[in-house]
Amino acid sequence: MVNVRCPLLPYSSVPDTYEGFVKAFRPRSGLDLNFYKPNQMQRRILSFMNSRGFRSYPEFLRALDRDRGLYDAFFKHLTINVTQFFRDAKQWQTLQDDILPSLVRVKFSLRLWSAGCSGGQEPYSLAILLAEHFPAVRPAILATDIDDNVLRQAKEGLYSANDFASTPPEILSKYFSPADHGYRVRDSLKRLVSFQHQDLLTARFETGFDFIACRNVVIYFTEEAKQLLYAKFAESLNLGGILFTGSTEHLFGMSHLGLKPVSPFFYQKNG
Ligand SMILES: C[S@@+](CC[C@H](N)C(=O)[O-])C[C@H]1O[C@@H](n2cnc3c(N)ncnc32)[C@H](O)[C@@H]1O
Repeated sequence: MVNVRCPLLPYSSVPDTYEGFVKAFRPRSGLDLNFYKPNQMQRRILSFMNSRGFRSYPEFLRALDRDRGLYDAFFKHLTINVTQFFRDAKQWQTLQDDILPSLVRVKFSLRLWSAGCSGGQEPYSLAILLAEHFPAVRPAILATDIDDNVLRQAKEGLYSANDFASTPPEILSKYFSPADHGYRVRDSLKRLVSFQHQDLLTARFETGFDFIACRNVVIYFTEEAKQLLYAKFAESLNLGGILFTGSTEHLFGMSHLGLKPVSPFFYQKNG
């Protein structure tokens, strides 16, 4: 939770402004809110503070420092980790019918990355799609997120029925086993995915990916932060590799990155 390399400004000397909160929150969380759209973020923070009865930023910071449960709930509210298996089914069909066949025509070991993976539903969906329809492919799937609580769930692989609204029943019974209050992902799938903590805005990325999914993560990022991120993704992709975005996310004016649209929400690195 706390970045020990930066000294913490005591909450009593934090100005009661959004800018003051952003500056004080960074060493406490590692999250630099300067990369996020200020109007939307401020609204989200104030709505959380109001719902918990906090009247000022310094008072709120003081409570965050003392109450781990409050901190976790706030971090979750900020990062918004709503997701489900096979979210936006139409895009997953395109992935199965068009995108993956063109990738596996060229190679059989694929490196894939779910960036902003939330509780693991997206990377496990990738693993299922490959196991079901491309059994000869050997996938290595990296899955990263900034929120340690969702990563814990992802590693545990325990889900509720709501997560499966877009999942065919035969897939559910094949890749999950019934568990208390839900379903647990089978070990055969778990082995294919490795989860890591990562802040997409500050991390240096690995290279050599054939496929990167970054969906519904950048909604609150500033335009500059998005440009920076997509440029880093372009560098991380192999030639011919694919970037898969969320269903409201279009990469306008990014042809200079060498990413060309091949289908709605799928971009290919020129190769
Ligand atoms: C709405 S979920 C998207 C999950 C999945 N990709 C999907 O489309 O269903 C957004 C995720 O992005 C993560 N996130 C937000 N900012 C991030 C950052 N700077 N670095 C890494 N992950 C981030 C959040 O923690 C959250 O789990």
